[in-house]
Amino acid sequence: MKGKKLSDQVALITGGGTGIGRAFAEALGNAGAMVVIASRRQDVLDRTAGDLNLKFGTERLFSYAFDIRKRQEIDALVDYVIKRWGRLDLLINNSGLAVPETVDAITEAGWDQVMETNVRGVMQLVRAIFPHMIANGFGDIVNISSQAGKHGYADVPSYCASKFGLIGFGEALRDHVRRVVANIRVFNFCPGLVDVENTAPDAEPRPGFIHVSNVARTLMYALSLDRNVVLEDIGIYSR
Ligand SMILES: NC(=O)c1ccc[n+]([C@@H]2O[C@H](COP(=O)([O-])OP(=O)(O)OC[C@H]3O[C@@H](n4cnc5c(N)ncnc54)[C@H](OP(=O)(O)O)[C@@H]3O)[C@@H](O)[C@H]2O)c1
Repeated sequence: MKGKKLSDQVALITGGGTGIGRAFAEALGNAGAMVVIASRRQDVLDRTAGDLNLKFGTERLFSYAFDIRKRQEIDALVDYVIKRWGRLDLLINNSGLAVPETVDAITEAGWDQVMETNVRGVMQLVRAIFPHMIANGFGDIVNISSQAGKHGYADVPSYCASKFGLIGFGEALRDHVRRVVANIRVFNFCPGLVDVENTAPDAEPRPGFIHVSNVARTLMYALSLDRNVVLEDIGIYSR
């Protein structure tokens, strides 16, 4: 199975302007990859791309505004990537949110927002990019689920349902790539609490949280494994 250096890869990180996604973007950009960061807020994306490109000393991050709940915007994003680079090697499904509403107070609007962002959007984006990965003969797909994709928590039932759902979607996708013998790996990340407020390299994470750099280092390790190896579900928690 053919491998590829990260410095020859094109990556797309949804939600790459902030938090965990930003840490992924920094790590991949440092390794020389071209990285598209995409989410709703153009100003946030531009600031992240500007700051990190300055650090890299060259343009490796490219910002693109889109809403993962909108099919046409997903298709336009995929078109942009394929027209510009001709391929996508790495897709990180990181965009996500929680609406804290207990089961007795849950609203349709809250439920739909969470499901459309965390699960339906991922399905639409994967479906749009998948034929290009097959044609490319290479691809990695990383889904950012959560500890809440393994255990239920009373304060965020819709979030838990969406993150359990994302793991199920990832497993089905993994089974599909096995059946069609595609050179595509599917990783599901299930982090516990990650401190996305104290992100400076030497910052002390809040009690019970882990420093965001650990998630980025885990990504780089997972991607470095041989093409026939996949770390299926990656739990990473504060001990
Ligand atoms: N931090 C934790 O403790 C933790 C633990 C486990 C899992 N996670 C998961 O990790 C991922 C990243 O979270 P984070 O902690 O880094 O929080 P974050 O900074 O809030 O990141 C979430 C990202 O999702 C984007 N997003 C939200 N709605 C979107 C939409 N409709 N279309 C496109 N992008 C959208 C946001 O950008 P815009 O607002 O610009 O759209 C934002 O950049 C999430 O999936 C989260 O569930 C986080």
